[in-house]
Amino acid sequence: MYILGLESSCDESAAAVLKAKGVKTEILSNVIASQIDIHAQYGGVIPEIAAREHVLRILPTIDEALKKAKIKANDLGAIAVTQGPGLVSSLLAAIETAKSLALIWEKPIIPVHHIIGHIYASFINTNPLPQFPIIALVVSGGHSNLILMNEHYNFKVIGETRDDAAGEAYDKAAKMMGLSYPGGPIIAKLAQEFRISNKKCQIQLPRPMLNSPNFDFSFSGLKTALLYKLQKDKTWKKNMPEYAYAFESAIIDTLIHKSLKAIERYKAKSFILAGGVAANMALRSELTEKIIKKFTKIMVFLPKLAYTTDNAAMIAAAGYYNYYQNKDNAFLNYRKLKADPNLKL
Ligand code: KG4
Ligand code: ZN
Repeated sequence: MYILGLESSCDESAAAVLKAKGVKTEILSNVIASQIDIHAQYGGVIPEIAAREHVLRILPTIDEALKKAKIKANDLGAIAVTQGPGLVSSLLAAIETAKSLALIWEKPIIPVHHIIGHIYASFINTNPLPQFPIIALVVSGGHSNLILMNEHYNFKVIGETRDDAAGEAYDKAAKMMGLSYPGGPIIAKLAQEFRISNKKCQIQLPRPMLNSPNFDFSFSGLKTALLYKLQKDKTWKKNMPEYAYAFESAIIDTLIHKSLKAIERYKAKSFILAGGVAANMALRSELTEKIIKKFTKIMVFLPKLAYTTDNAAMIAAAGYYNYYQNKDNAFLNYRKLKADPNLKL
């Protein structure tokens, strides 16, 4: 079965073609038209501009994805599209396009929750596949969730952020330090500079909710703590790598601590790291090392870098596994599809 995936929930217009059989999936094309350069000028995503750019880019992106995959619309079994959460004016571009194509091509639609898309990025072309029960840590610009999966397409949110998402905290910290958008990769680079200098970090930042009895996160206080430290230090501009390192360490420590607790509590056989912040090399390596050290039999899955930040390959994969688990119940008639900016899991 071939599935066309479409994604436009924030500032990437994306289309991908997935080939699937049984539990095995393979990506034939993965096209992303990013708007980061445009939004970087404003220090964040401007919804009106994002919406206009999506309208211009979504059809050429789909054309390219089909061409690269060397398949025709006729070959498709379904169109998987992000239904939410996200910016409503952005979501509409892929959704309205999917509806038109579903009508013209006479194909069913599979609506996909964006966070579930991030999780299924780790199932693409993977051997061996993750085993259930799975604990997934989804950390992106919009979400920080710990999710338990006991079987395909079965999700229980066991922890979430009470305020800012991990990626959002990175982006806000970068803005405070006068750095560009998105801040995650820039802070990560500065932090790495400090890490390899082998100096001892003198900046102490809090690890919010580290010892709370639940699996929830909170990153807003950390951001404020950083702001106060910067305000007190007249020479902070000279010590940016150290501040970036202190900030990143606080986030990583918290994410690792809660992940280890969740794996233990739910006796997970696999752990999946997902979302834009999963591109962070320090998080990838420290998390893997600590999980494997504590739980010798567990399998840890890190998505390929191309599937960490927003893309349509993950949406096609999530759509396919919904079909794999629920067959025709995964399908939705195009008339019934509506964007839902606050779609719940
Ligand atoms: O998943 P994503 O593309 O969009 C949402 O669904 O929100 O995630 C984007 C987020 C941004 O906040 C960005 O700063 C963060 O992922 N990010 C990173 C890194 N690369 C992207 N954060 C930390 N380290 C990175 N290397
Ligand atoms: Zn995302």
